[in-house]
Amino acid sequence: MRRAFIAGNWKMNLEKGSAVELAKALVDGTRNITDRDVLICPSFPLLPIVNDIVSGSNVWLGAQNMYYEKKGAFTGEVSADMLKSVGCEWVILGHSERRHVFHEDDSLINKKVKSAIEQGLKPILCVGELLEERESGKTEEVVKRQVVEGLKEVSPEDTAKIIIAYEPVWAIGTGKTATPEDADSIHSFIRDILRDLYNSKVSENMRILYGGSVKPENIDSLMAKDNIDGALVGGASLKADSFLRIINANIQS
Ligand code: 13P
Repeated sequence: MRRAFIAGNWKMNLEKGSAVELAKALVDGTRNITDRDVLICPSFPLLPIVNDIVSGSNVWLGAQNMYYEKKGAFTGEVSADMLKSVGCEWVILGHSERRHVFHEDDSLINKKVKSAIEQGLKPILCVGELLEERESGKTEEVVKRQVVEGLKEVSPEDTAKIIIAYEPVWAIGTGKTATPEDADSIHSFIRDILRDLYNSKVSENMRILYGGSVKPENIDSLMAKDNIDGALVGGASLKADSFLRIINANIQS
């Protein structure tokens, strides 16, 4: 049985005051949670202050990106060590906004995945197709390429430190959610890829999150699906009441 995982990606939202308020409310609201992982990923400048609040609580801290080099002349970038020093355990890599707004490719994302693991940060590797790719029947091809290239040279043992997030780009911030059936079938397809790349144990153990317009209203039907182990939430993670409702989703056993 895979442990459920609910992650909030704050993206480039929230300033200090509202971030502190939200983090405190989440720490309070998750005090009794023992059966699932909860993660928040604030923007870089907020990580230390949010870390002070979530440290020792049931809320994990993660970053939204990192660079693969350890240090040096890389203006504007941050390293895994820097993120760990401010309490991060996780890092989102290959988010569709990194791929499509900042033109990150599979090879760069793979370098980041390997570097994060080597340096003790756990990656959430995001994959997902654009609307035009879906409409031209290329969803599986795109998702397969992103999974295979993203995990290149990652050992079977190290897959235990990785989570995959399937986020169809057309469902992000648009209010359009993939149906639970559609999402489940792509998650199952990702498990087939993992079985081919590694073995059935890796395929069965790896957690796969769904992301794209996840809301209090649709979280239960998504979580009811066998292959959906949790959610990567954008907009609905910015308010304590909606994110806590998502965190408290019904989990089928
Ligand atoms: P929304 O939940 O706002 O659609 O964002 C999803 C996402 O990109 C999370 O990483």
